[in-house]
Amino acid sequence: MHTSSVPSLSKSVFLCLPLSLAMNPLLIPEAYIIGAQPLCSQLVGLSQGQKKLCQLYQDHMQYIGEGAKTGIRECQYQFRHRRWNCSTVDNSSVFGRVMQIGSRETAFTYAISAAGVVNAVSRACREGELSSCGCSRAARPKDLPRDWLWGGCGDNLNYGYRFSKEFVDAREREKSYAKGSFESARLMMNLHNNEAGRRTVSDLAHVSCKCHGVSGSCSLKTCWLQLADFRKVGETLKEKYDSAASMKLNLRGKLVQRDSKFNPPTSHDLVYIESSPDYCLSNQSTGSLGTVGRLCNKTSEGMDGCELMCCGRGYDQYKAQIVERCHCKFHWCCYVKCKRCTKTVDQFVCK
Ligand SMILES: *[C@@H]1O[C@H](CO)[C@@H](O)[C@H](O)[C@H]1NC(C)=O
Ligand SMILES: *[C@@H]1O[C@H](CO)[C@@H](O)[C@H](O)[C@H]1NC(C)=O
Ligand SMILES: *[C@@H]1O[C@H](CO)[C@@H](O)[C@H](O)[C@H]1NC(C)=O
Ligand SMILES: *[C@@H]1O[C@H](CO)[C@@H](O)[C@H](O)[C@H]1NC(C)=O
Repeated sequence: MHTSSVPSLSKSVFLCLPLSLAMNPLLIPEAYIIGAQPLCSQLVGLSQGQKKLCQLYQDHMQYIGEGAKTGIRECQYQFRHRRWNCSTVDNSSVFGRVMQIGSRETAFTYAISAAGVVNAVSRACREGELSSCGCSRAARPKDLPRDWLWGGCGDNLNYGYRFSKEFVDAREREKSYAKGSFESARLMMNLHNNEAGRRTVSDLAHVSCKCHGVSGSCSLKTCWLQLADFRKVGETLKEKYDSAASMKLNLRGKLVQRDSKFNPPTSHDLVYIESSPDYCLSNQSTGSLGTVGRLCNKTSEGMDGCELMCCGRGYDQYKAQIVERCHCKFHWCCYVKCKRCTKTVDQFVCK
């Protein structure tokens, strides 16, 4: 069966709900590949609705897990020079306690994990890995030149978006909190940021084409829908992190921007409800690991510079040996062969 849409699931599947994907054992995709039957009950971190979806769509679980992992790796890359580097005290999950405060960092982690899942599921459809979806059936773009063919096998963004929305948001949708409560604000924040992550993937998808025709004349082109490289999604979400909107609950229990001078955030933007700690010192309740022991750059004036990274506590200097590829030679044809050289560098580590 090949359909492009998520078979409709009874809404009663989603009763109430909480944390993000990032908190659950889906982060260990290897865990699913084992037997088929007991799989869903073994995944301790799943909400009720997610368990149901797991039973209906077992073949999707591996991609959901890989997608969330890709999201986290990208988070760690984007924040590698920052005090908060996308790791936390509780490393049983990558994000751990950071998720407990409604900060910008939490907003980012929800968005990028949701984006990772859309990405992975859309690709898995294209690659024929899932029984309920196949290549994209997106409509031909109106502005595509008439003699170009539309219909290469594209990433199935439509399915990836819809499935991951059902799955990832299920946790939040199952919960119900009193209107106007802090928990209800967190719930709305999480859903908003999940959506912003998915939309970012969707906004960056583009048409990609391949030439055919006699000896590369390119007289004929075949085009399809293609997702952007995930690095691009990470960069775009990082920009959205920098411009994230600070929100609060209004009297009618809706999230509104704190400062009404600015344009209200759209569904493509990140939102947060609590200010961030400075992440200088380790603190269980905020999920900060602190920056003691982090490498810093003595000459940089940015966040990775020793002054800012070490929060003014100072740093120690070490000599470290690093191994590099060097004296690389190109061999016909076609590979590059390098030697390994060891060099001594100065490293600076926060006190
Ligand atoms: C957390 O990290 C520490 C140090 O890296 C390690 O010893 C410990 O086993 C990790 N815990 C879990 C649950 O992964
Ligand atoms: C940890 O952070 C919380 C919230 O910012 C603060 O109230 C508390 O004093 C901090 N604890 C320590 C040990 O620094
Ligand atoms: C993040 O920083 C902590 C210390 O603050 C360090 O232990 C950890 O290895 C870093 N993680 C990454 C991915 O760089
Ligand atoms: C340190 O920062 C400077 C200035 O930003 C940069 O040119 C240099 O490559 C950085 N060094 C390392 C080891 O990252």
